[in-house]
Amino acid sequence: MAEPFLIGDRMTGGYGGADILHGCTVAVEKGEIAVIVGPNGAGKSTAMKAVFGMLNIHAGAVRLNGEDITRLSPQARVAKGMAFVPQTHNIFTSMTVEENLEMGAFLRRDDISGTIDEVYRLFPILKEKRRQAAGELSGGQRQQVAVGRALMTRPSVLMLDEPTAGVSPIVMDELFDRIIEVARTGISILMVEQNARQALEIADKGYVLVQGSNAYTDTGRALLDDPEVRRTFLGG
Ligand SMILES: Nc1ncnc2c1ncn2[C@@H]1O[C@H](COP(=O)(O)OP(=O)(O)O)[C@@H](O)[C@H]1O
Ligand SMILES: [Mg+2]
Repeated sequence: MAEPFLIGDRMTGGYGGADILHGCTVAVEKGEIAVIVGPNGAGKSTAMKAVFGMLNIHAGAVRLNGEDITRLSPQARVAKGMAFVPQTHNIFTSMTVEENLEMGAFLRRDDISGTIDEVYRLFPILKEKRRQAAGELSGGQRQQVAVGRALMTRPSVLMLDEPTAGVSPIVMDELFDRIIEVARTGISILMVEQNARQALEIADKGYVLVQGSNAYTDTGRALLDDPEVRRTFLGG
C-alpha cells in the first residue's frame, strides 16, 4: 500500500527528560480525517508537536508526501503546506478577527483577499464580527478564528489540537461539520479530540494512544464498534 500523505512514523522522543513518545505512529491520507484520542497525559499533544517539528524525536521520522521532513523547523513545514492549531493560545485576543486572519497569511506575498472570503464563507459569523477583538468572541467563535487563521496559508494538511475544547455539544457538531467541509476540499485533517466518540464518528482513521504508544489503530467506525475500545476509552 502507498504511504499516507502525512505520517509521523514510529516517533520516539520527549522534552529532554524521559521519553514521552515510544514508537508512536500517526498518519493521515489526502483529504481524509484522522483523529487521535486517549486519556489525559497520553502524549496526544506531544505527538502533534512532534509531527509539526516543535519537539525533537531521536527515533522515527516524519514524512509529508513522501518527503522526509523530520529535521525541518515548524516554519519550514508551514512553507511545505502544513498548518497547526495548538490546544491553547491559538489566537491573538487583542487583535480583530480580520487581523488574526491576516496574521495567518504572514508567509504569503500574493493577494490574500480570496482566501479571507473563503474563510468567511466557511464561518459566516466571523465576517459579521470581523472588526471585533477576537478576545470578545465566544469560545466556539474563537476556535473558528483559530481554524480560519490556520487556513490562511492554504495548507494541504490542517492539524488541530482539541478544536472543540470547552464548547457546547451544538457548537461542537457545527465545528465538526465545518471540519468535514474543509476535508472535502482535499485538505487532510489530523486532530486530537477529547470528545472521542463524536470525533471517531467523523474519522476515516482513528488512533488510540496510551502512555505514548499506539494502543488501537483502525477506521473510526471499527474503533467505535470494538467492545474493548468502547469499554476502556469510550465509557461503554
Ligand atoms: N512542555 C513540556 N515539558 C515537559 N513535559 C511535558 C510538556 N508538555 C507535556 N509534558 C508531559 O508529557 C506527557 C504527555 O502530555 P501531553 O502530550 O500534553 O498529553 P495529552 O495531550 O495526551 O493530554 C505528560 O506526562 C506531560 O506532563
Ligand atoms: Mg493535549
